[in-house]
Amino acid sequence: MSTNSIDSLLHETRRFAPDPEFAANAIATADLYERAAVDPDAFWAEQARELLHWHRPFDEVLDWSNPPFAKWFADGRINVAYNCLDRHVLAGNGDRVAFHWEGEPGDSRTITYAELTAEVKKAANLLTSLGIRQGDRVAIYLPMIPEAVIAMLAIARIGAVHSVVFGGFSAESLRARIDDAAAKLVITADGGWRKGKVFPLKNAVDAALAADPSTGSGTESTVKNVLVVRRGENTVDWVEGRDLWWHDEIALMDPEHDAQPFEAENPLFILYTSGTTGKPKGILHTSGGYLTHTAFTHKNVFDLHPETDVYWCTADVGWITGHSYVVYGPLANGATQVLYEGTPDTPHPGRWWELIQKYGVTIFYTAPTAIRSFMKSGRQIPQQFDLSSLRLLGSVGEPINPEAWIWYREIIGGGTTPVVDTWWQTETGGIMISALPGVTEAKPGSAQVPLPGISVDVVNDDGSPVGHGNGGLLVVTKPWPGMLRGIWGDPERFKETYWEKFGDKYFAGDGARFDDDGDIWLLGRVDDVLNVSGHRLSTAEIESALVSHPWVAEAAVVGASDETTGQAVVAFVIVKASQADVATADEASAQLRAHVSEQIGAIARPRQIFIVSELPKTRSGKIMRRLLRDVAEGREIGDTTTLADTSVMQIISDKLK
Ligand code: WT7
Repeated sequence: MSTNSIDSLLHETRRFAPDPEFAANAIATADLYERAAVDPDAFWAEQARELLHWHRPFDEVLDWSNPPFAKWFADGRINVAYNCLDRHVLAGNGDRVAFHWEGEPGDSRTITYAELTAEVKKAANLLTSLGIRQGDRVAIYLPMIPEAVIAMLAIARIGAVHSVVFGGFSAESLRARIDDAAAKLVITADGGWRKGKVFPLKNAVDAALAADPSTGSGTESTVKNVLVVRRGENTVDWVEGRDLWWHDEIALMDPEHDAQPFEAENPLFILYTSGTTGKPKGILHTSGGYLTHTAFTHKNVFDLHPETDVYWCTADVGWITGHSYVVYGPLANGATQVLYEGTPDTPHPGRWWELIQKYGVTIFYTAPTAIRSFMKSGRQIPQQFDLSSLRLLGSVGEPINPEAWIWYREIIGGGTTPVVDTWWQTETGGIMISALPGVTEAKPGSAQVPLPGISVDVVNDDGSPVGHGNGGLLVVTKPWPGMLRGIWGDPERFKETYWEKFGDKYFAGDGARFDDDGDIWLLGRVDDVLNVSGHRLSTAEIESALVSHPWVAEAAVVGASDETTGQAVVAFVIVKASQADVATADEASAQLRAHVSEQIGAIARPRQIFIVSELPKTRSGKIMRRLLRDVAEGREIGDTTTLADTSVMQIISDKLK
């Protein structure tokens, strides 16, 4: 983000006090802050006891004797799936709708808590029959269909560990994740619906498992079985003895299954996210602390009244938002949700608003990139629908600019709903910074304040607090229950990435600033991580995909500001001399965009690729991305004095004119 836009953000003066009627019925109350401040550990223990069922109550709260490896509620025993399912049924709420699911083609399913519990029990028996035991890893590669949630909960129910891989990732990315976690089983579908068409998934699993796709070395994968949900009705290849149809197997299963308690620190899932190197990090989350954090934040930040609310979070379960605020938080709280398979604009641009009207959605949680693209297509589209059921709106994934915030509140929220901008990360497990509806006076563009029980600060490079009014690095200063417990298989990288910089503080990788009121403004990543439409991508990962193409000698990737997607991927590529005459720059760039899609997935495909003859480097050989960003954003090129060869930027910009 440029200095200009930071300044204009900080001059935002509009304020929205909580509506008294909303405040009178709000779940969150101001005294939460004081209670948590007195003794944060005791506060979290109280939440854990109040919000969850413990098969064996805990006495220990936080064990921070071996930092940065935290343990929460370590002597307690819990079953995560039981908390999300059985206990609601036992409490007499089995008939409550858990999901109003809507497929993109318009088919739908209503699933009550009793039905969801029954499905998960059968699925748990199926996993057990396939030899899956506590601690085993299972990869999920599914569209947004109920089976995605059922599979996650069934894995959790038996104490195994899921690794959900977003359906938009390529076979290569899927294989890398399967290998890193040594998964025994993959749960996929024949295909899913997207933009009016079936996109195949099973074939990507076949390709991923065939051999090591990058080296062709034929390394055996650890996967023994592939369970296939029928959804797209597209033809699939079949490997006898390995592949099984979900519906065939489920039909054979015993509907009874007793949920066994597991240790609070039993691993729940691994979710891969991009870091500063080419290799994605397997972020590890465990059970009791994570569920406490997601249940508490979901209830208080979204003001959930489970008997009357209809909650809809538009995130795919392939991302952390889907894990924490479609599956675990909402189901632990007994929420009724909308789950939608497809894209917002299929078959018509008002599809989301139509769903809000159809199901009477009261709480809606989405990303700024979606809001900005709706702004672009005009208010007349949402205005064709009755959105009056909405009473609370949430935003996540990247900073929401004040104009988008105001539009969201005015056009979608009827000018009255609170808007909560929630800052958090795959690593934090749940929301860390956000307004509390009914309590906080809202300030468009600022994520505002740390939640009760969460301690953050903004510091200099040397770790000293910068105070109000100055920019710095965002850190979390105390352990929190939803915090990542590590990087799968790589404790060194865990320490190095998040803890070594400041010793006892968690380094988030975001720039931030406190304003004079003490509200926090997020200023974007300070590392080589891009945020495209709220999705995290690593420059190094895209660069390594580019150089894996035989034509490419060198590549540099930057994030350029983009009106809709926040940032866009822009690549600068040097083509090998032997190839320079074979293809035109346009051909090369088209080929390479497709190659990145194949290697990582369509989300990483560069918006633009510039074929250049040189890259700007410092004398120590580091690529100066700042200068490339200037080019990509069409700006005057900044200070080039530290370049090894100062004529390079002239050559690049002349060539692009
Ligand atoms: C990065 C984490 C958290 C779920 C979705 C993304 C950025 C996230 C906000 C926000 C400003 C935000 C940060 C963060 N981010 N929410 N409300 N305001 N920035 O999870 O893929 O782990 O990405 O997203 O840069 O570090 P993720």
